[in-house]
Amino acid sequence: MAEISPGTEVEPERGVKNRKSCVKWILIDPCNPINRIKPVKILSIETSCDETSLAIIEAKGGKTSADIPRFKIEKSLIASQIEIHRPFGGVVPSLAKREHLKNLPILYKQIFGTGQKEKKLWDKIDLIAVTVGPGLEPALWAGITFAEELAKKNDKPLVGANHLEGHLYSFLLKRPAGSVKDKASDLFPAIALIISGGHTILLEMDNLYEWKKIGETRDDAVGEAYDKVARLSGLQYTGGPEIEKLAKVGNPKAIDFPRPMIYHKNYDFSFSGLKTSVRYYIVTHPGAEKDPKTKADIAASFQEAALDVLSRKTGKAIKEVNAKALFISGGVSINKTLRERFKKDFGDEVAVYFPHRELCNDNAVMIGAAAYIKFMQGKKYRTVAQANLNM
Ligand code: KG4
Ligand code: ZN
Repeated sequence: MAEISPGTEVEPERGVKNRKSCVKWILIDPCNPINRIKPVKILSIETSCDETSLAIIEAKGGKTSADIPRFKIEKSLIASQIEIHRPFGGVVPSLAKREHLKNLPILYKQIFGTGQKEKKLWDKIDLIAVTVGPGLEPALWAGITFAEELAKKNDKPLVGANHLEGHLYSFLLKRPAGSVKDKASDLFPAIALIISGGHTILLEMDNLYEWKKIGETRDDAVGEAYDKVARLSGLQYTGGPEIEKLAKVGNPKAIDFPRPMIYHKNYDFSFSGLKTSVRYYIVTHPGAEKDPKTKADIAASFQEAALDVLSRKTGKAIKEVNAKALFISGGVSINKTLRERFKKDFGDEVAVYFPHRELCNDNAVMIGAAAYIKFMQGKKYRTVAQANLNM
């Protein structure tokens, strides 16, 4: 497998006191293919959960933390396994692995074809990126092993990528020119909220490369709470879209569900108690999950409680760091009610960024972007499955 040596990091000049004004310059080795003036073409692979995805993107810029990188999506394929896992009410790791192993060569062939077409495309690829975590270990290994074989066969460098960093950076993708501020000084400091099926994380970001995790969930992730409330209400997997649809016709003030930890001084979250309250409501109101109006009211009231907590904690963080921008990402960020709520609550205070709707759920495009940004810092993740990798 070809190796590639990333740039060497140089510390900011001594005497620079304000960490917000520090720019980490990276010395770039001009002989290294990754450092050509030409954009870097990346084949990326995502198999952390129940979506098999392959993408080819072109990336440029981002050589310093002051320079926001730009990405062009050339190919993006996603094979969803939702129908396979639906009868089980959640993702079954062994089935996920089996499906990834089946889907990866199919998606590969759709992009690369065979013979001359395949060879020509490989000639242009500079780097392969694969998700190494967090995620389901057997599923992660399916992608890593596939990526390793491709890297070896085609003599290309391979780097690991953090799935959560993929979500974090997804606001940079599929953007009309000029819709993301090009100057880092216009974006940072920023607050990022990652809300997915496995995570609820608040970050304080000094620039695209440097952040501090200031809060996370202590139990269930918010997407997980959507999924569990959906199951309690007799709705199918995945629950988020089902709850969102139902909530649209329900009354968000109908049931006063708790807002766990909303007034706590820290930035941590807890959604398990909220889900338990929904369960208790259903148990103590026989037939509730069968009556369409009550079901809609439960969905709307649950969603309102979850959004109240997310919004309050995020707002507190924005004020505390005097943020200029807010980046919201992860599967839950596709939710329209949530988007409207955050724009209403913070749109006057900060620039609010969401990923393109096609890139909220798991996809390989964001993995290519995350690998590129990491790599431009002279860093890469080891290509071994890291189920509990965090930010
Ligand atoms: O980011 P993602 O695709 O996978 C993980 O990395 O976990 O997020 C999946 C989560 C699921 O819990 C799903 O219910 C939730 O995103 N989700 C939604 C919506 N669409 C997906 N949650 C609320 N509203 C939605 N419309
Ligand atoms: Zn995800």
